[in-house]
Amino acid sequence: MITGQRQRNWWKVICLVVLFLFITVSGLLASRFLVDEPVRYADDEDHFKYGSLGGEREAGFPYWIWKALPRVCTAQLPDGRRYPGQEYKALGFLYEGEKLLPVGMSMRRHLGLDRVFLNCAACHASTVRETPVTEPRIYTGMPAHRLNLMAFERFLFDCAKSAAFSPDLIIPAIQELGGGLNLFDQFVVYPLAVHLMRARLVMLDQRLSFMLDKGPTREWGPGRVDTFAFAKALLNFRMDDIPLREQVGVVDFPSIWLQKPRIGMQLHWDGNNTSLEERNRSAAFGAGATAPTLDRSAMKRVENWLLAREPPPYPFPIDQRVAAKGAPIYRRYCAGCHGISGRNFTDDRVGKVVPIADINTDPYRLDSYTYDLAVNQNLLYAGNENPDERFSHFRKTNGYANMPLDGIWLRAPYLHNGSVPTLRDLLEPRSKRPTKFYRGYDVYDQQRVGFVSTVNQEQGHHFFLFNTTDDKGRSLPGNGRDGHEGARYGTELPETDKVALIEHLKTF
Ligand code: HEC
Ligand code: HEC
Repeated sequence: MITGQRQRNWWKVICLVVLFLFITVSGLLASRFLVDEPVRYADDEDHFKYGSLGGEREAGFPYWIWKALPRVCTAQLPDGRRYPGQEYKALGFLYEGEKLLPVGMSMRRHLGLDRVFLNCAACHASTVRETPVTEPRIYTGMPAHRLNLMAFERFLFDCAKSAAFSPDLIIPAIQELGGGLNLFDQFVVYPLAVHLMRARLVMLDQRLSFMLDKGPTREWGPGRVDTFAFAKALLNFRMDDIPLREQVGVVDFPSIWLQKPRIGMQLHWDGNNTSLEERNRSAAFGAGATAPTLDRSAMKRVENWLLAREPPPYPFPIDQRVAAKGAPIYRRYCAGCHGISGRNFTDDRVGKVVPIADINTDPYRLDSYTYDLAVNQNLLYAGNENPDERFSHFRKTNGYANMPLDGIWLRAPYLHNGSVPTLRDLLEPRSKRPTKFYRGYDVYDQQRVGFVSTVNQEQGHHFFLFNTTDDKGRSLPGNGRDGHEGARYGTELPETDKVALIEHLKTF
């Protein structure tokens, strides 16, 4: 009797201990692996620059792996050594002071790791310098004219395919960088994370190879990206089977200030969408966020901020007398399509599409957006419990859209494909526009209005040589400097009128 009673008590104790251990361990695991918490920013502009939109949940790189990659893959990023601790500068990323992450990268604690990915500012913020010896100034909302996204993708893919992308090299590199990984991290969590990241990058490399391995004339260069290539790859389009004119859809990053007065306009370079929210959800793809992962309140905060965000005023001297002479020229020639001024966008044709036969600029971006894609794109947010979020406003158009010119001084190089370096060059006919020029320098050219584009390097950092034509003078796919030319586009104005018009555009 007594022994039986004792045995039962023993069992109770053992069960309780096991239960206790189970609860503690699962509690520990849960507190480690179930946390989903972004790094938050009180200031709206900081939220734009560094805030998470949820993309890390699916696409995020573990911070420490991302940080260690330039160290283990020095062969794939040789220029990274020029910027110890901020190696990604070699690819055109910007850093403020000693911050851990570049502008345009956000962090979220998710699946037990600090994960990082791009946000809107990666493609929509950049810098300007007055001279080579002055400090760069960061402007949010301007095109990221220095970021070389193709080079970033290639670095990640080449690194993933190399022998260096292994826990044996990456984990010690993380420890050297001060990662302080404990034994569980070193032997379980990070080896698994390295393998998952590698598998994912190799898969993406295969899907995107149709645009990455096409030789120097198909390089985007800094400040440009192929808008719909990624969506096509996700939708499994057979990219090698489609004609060249649908394969190349490369564009210059646009500015994104003052969204409120743009409500109802046909936006995107080809004017293919009139819904602000839908465009933003589509833009969130660029930040890795899809229907299940998008952090809607964080997105709303960016959206609201952009509604009234103004472009920064031109910071250099303006000759007001000359600018005043340019005002009537602008009103006569340009206002009907581009709006009354840099702040007042009302005019009948603003935000409408000019047919390609009239505007005559490079046709590739227009043709790359196909009926097929317009139809299939609706699938990207389908299956989403909220039907209001499905894409329903995308349309195939027949040209490029008239857009307001607010902050136009910061939007160089010009045209949808960034093929014309300065405003002065845009007011020349094609035959007098530069056939090649350098992209990626942030020193400002106050005479021609745009970035200095004739310098090939600065202290060993080489800029990208952008070719508009092949050696026979024919426009290269996606790079043509054609169009927006003729009397109504201002290219036949007398010299003094061009100078006055450009001075006036500095006030926008
Ligand atoms: C990977 C780079 C990238 C990221 C990240 C990105 N964008 Fe963009 N964005 C672009 C490009 C390129 C276009 C032009 C697309 C086109 O028309 O071909 C664009 C267009 C836009 C436009 C329309 C501009 C116009 O006047 O037509 C808005 C608004 C915009 N983006 C907002 C955002 C917001 C908000 C985010 C963050 C959620 C974001 N973008 C993230 C590259 C990016
Ligand atoms: C018939 C309508 C029309 C007229 C008139 C017109 N434009 Fe444009 N403009 C456009 C369109 C459409 C685009 C986009 C073309 C493209 O990117 O392929 C554009 C692009 C531009 C851009 C490049 C914007 C950027 O962000 O890169 C500038 C600058 C510009 N126009 C200035 C002017 C000036 C100055 C005048 C007057 C001399 C003028 N435009 C007259 C329709 C017009």
